[in-house]
Amino acid sequence: MSRGRRKLLVYGLVVGTLLLLAYKLRTCPEPEPQTMFMMPKDKFVTDENMKIYSYDRNMPLIFIGGVPRSGTTLMRAMLDAHPDVRCGQETRVVPRILQMRNHWYKSSKESLRLKEAGVSEEVINSAVASFILEVIARHGVPAPRLCNKDPLALKSMDYLKVLFPNAKYIFMVRDGRATVHSIISRKVTITGFDLNSYRQCLEKWDDAIGVMYKNCNKVGAGYCLMVYYEQLVLRPRATLTEILNFLDIPWNETVLHHNEMINKPGGIALSMVERSSDQVVRPLYQEALTKWVGQIPDDVVNDMANIAPMLSTLGYDPAANPPTYGIPENVASPEHQYESSASGDSTKQTTTRKRYLLI
Ligand SMILES: *[C@@H]1O[C@H](CO)[C@@H](O)[C@H](O)[C@H]1NC(C)=O
Repeated sequence: MSRGRRKLLVYGLVVGTLLLLAYKLRTCPEPEPQTMFMMPKDKFVTDENMKIYSYDRNMPLIFIGGVPRSGTTLMRAMLDAHPDVRCGQETRVVPRILQMRNHWYKSSKESLRLKEAGVSEEVINSAVASFILEVIARHGVPAPRLCNKDPLALKSMDYLKVLFPNAKYIFMVRDGRATVHSIISRKVTITGFDLNSYRQCLEKWDDAIGVMYKNCNKVGAGYCLMVYYEQLVLRPRATLTEILNFLDIPWNETVLHHNEMINKPGGIALSMVERSSDQVVRPLYQEALTKWVGQIPDDVVNDMANIAPMLSTLGYDPAANPPTYGIPENVASPEHQYESSASGDSTKQTTTRKRYLLI
């Protein structure tokens, strides 16, 4: 090869490389990492008429909760009876993923590992929110307002508020003595509750409701509404009016007749294996309010204020057995008693009503 040709080849290579580089730089600009992120495709479900319901983290979800056996199933059945709302059965997995996420952040070693792996809190929040949202949206029929009832999920109300900024919370509150009596007499297994001990169960009730009460105050009155089970049962119309106002849902009489909507299209889907299903198939009844009286051991009754200080905090007199829960709203006009009541129950209802007037 002559020197001239070799020179030409070298020049050619250099020029060619430069051209290639210039071309590459033109077609592949440096990525700007701060502006690049992944976006989910639009999420939606459809009903039987192929009407599209989209769902996302900013929708006004409804979360119903409280200590189990506090009327959360009744509450969700009443809302399920409304044409705009779908709650559905307990999902069971929503509180579990919340608990799992808590565990990751309880250990500082583990949170450091996650951070170093690029699994930031934002990534975790996005993933946990998607999980919860998918379960809520897809485990039942579509509806304009989606709702979830997994009682103990409300322990994480403050975190749910981070995931779902526009969600609202219905926090069911019931006299802890009645709740614990129901847990024990119906043998409802709840992690941490010793069904052989009224004292221990009341302490556990106090812990759980204390956490929820604190979080309810934390997210604020605009987002969390405390609903007293006793008020819901004694004054359903007034209480439900307040609840629907709080949720920005128009009034519909169907919420007062939830038992007529069981397993109807757009009505209430029940689980065969949930403990409260056999109770919400009945019209509203009041006799459960004081079933606990006389069932709790004396030493526990005498020490009630110390065992369960949340009773007083919530307005239940720990020394009264039973306390005054209130006067039923339909006393003045008995003809407006719930016509849907099962026949034969009416005498019972009348006596219950009288009993409450005397308390
Ligand atoms: C109440 O709900 C029923 C049953 O879904 C519906 O047919 C009715 O139109 C609703 N009433 C109002 C006032 O929205």
